[in-house]
Amino acid sequence: MTVTPIKQKYDIKDISLASMGQQRIDWAAREMPVLRQITERFAQEKPFAGLRLIACCHVTTETANLAIALKAGGADAILIASNPLSTQDDVAACLVANYGIPVFAIKGEDNDTYHRHVQIALDHKPNIIIDDGCDVVATLVKERKHQLSDIIGTTEETTTGIVRLQAMLKDGVLSFPAINVNDAETKHFFDNRYGTGQSTLDGIIRATNVLLAGKTVVVAGYGWCGKGVAMRARGLGSNVIVTEINPVRAIEAAMDGFRVMPMSEAASQGDVFVTVTGNMHVIRAEHFEMMKDGAMVCNSGHFDIEIDLKSLGAKATEVKDVRNFTQQYSLPNGKSIVVLGEGRLVNLAAAEGHPSAVMDMSFANQALGCEYLVKNKGQLAPGIYSIPTELDQDIAALKLKAMGISIDSLTAEQINYINSWTSGT
Ligand code: ADE
Repeated sequence: MTVTPIKQKYDIKDISLASMGQQRIDWAAREMPVLRQITERFAQEKPFAGLRLIACCHVTTETANLAIALKAGGADAILIASNPLSTQDDVAACLVANYGIPVFAIKGEDNDTYHRHVQIALDHKPNIIIDDGCDVVATLVKERKHQLSDIIGTTEETTTGIVRLQAMLKDGVLSFPAINVNDAETKHFFDNRYGTGQSTLDGIIRATNVLLAGKTVVVAGYGWCGKGVAMRARGLGSNVIVTEINPVRAIEAAMDGFRVMPMSEAASQGDVFVTVTGNMHVIRAEHFEMMKDGAMVCNSGHFDIEIDLKSLGAKATEVKDVRNFTQQYSLPNGKSIVVLGEGRLVNLAAAEGHPSAVMDMSFANQALGCEYLVKNKGQLAPGIYSIPTELDQDIAALKLKAMGISIDSLTAEQINYINSWTSGT
């Protein structure tokens, strides 16, 4: 098979940022003991030798540690940004300069550059794709059918990406196996909940320096991410309102002690709004009209479509930057609305994304998911697969050990009991 060489070797902001990037990558590695052990094993076993891999992820210190693991495992890997605003330019520089990993990502890149990077990644003729939001896989399926036979499989870690993969499967266009990393318990229980919870509030605080105690925070969506945001906002002393469309989740939010109401009621009450639904236009024109003067809106869902910024922009008499990642929209009714991170993931735009300790488990799942695809090459029919439970449990066991926590194990008598149906009342 002939491989078209990548014409541009990398596309980053500034290679001279590499040493700062190295310091921060090493710092993150301290909190990533599970991925470190996997890296050491990969370096011995080289599971990806001879394979081309592209990773479309947020270019952060944690992703750098994943890329280093994949390269140690023998992968010919390149990295592109999965979001125009989440790239840490020093990390991109370090991966290029110190690890020889081509990176195509610049913080603040425009949409055209973002899509050009997706094309460059596909020019790499990947065998394995690590995707974050499914843009690479969707582009491959739409525009590069001739490359489909090269693909061993993909891994996807976002809820949004999984929803898109499910739609592809339903439409009969998914022609290779996809590993649903998000489904692993060691992913969504921790990354979505504690990771999004902490990093979203971190992003809001870094962008605005607002005091959250006593404020009304409206959280749209009560999936794992919404639960995390609501829990942490309450922890900081906010009055939290949850909006939902799923009746079960709405009951759960109510029984967790949050006020639950439609956005049309919450709009006039909130001081800070956070969308984490995965759907579009959750906050829209009719809601902006009702908001308090100075209300802040931001998003922690994967795409920048949850807040209808087009309609806000169309109404606004003036839009001005008031702080980094903070824009004030003045409305004809005399009030203003403050938008954080341009409606993109506020935790990655204005802060550094999820802390390393949770990404340790998410990326352990990514790394083992890729290895699983390779080990089972040709055996898996097109479809969406969960991470095998044993791998999930192994990751949890390694994490516990690294945290210095030991737990009980079943006695022989207990094993016998849970495996039998004969003993009852
Ligand atoms: N998604 C959320 N937080 C992240 C991080 N720190 N690194 C990579 N992807 C992320």
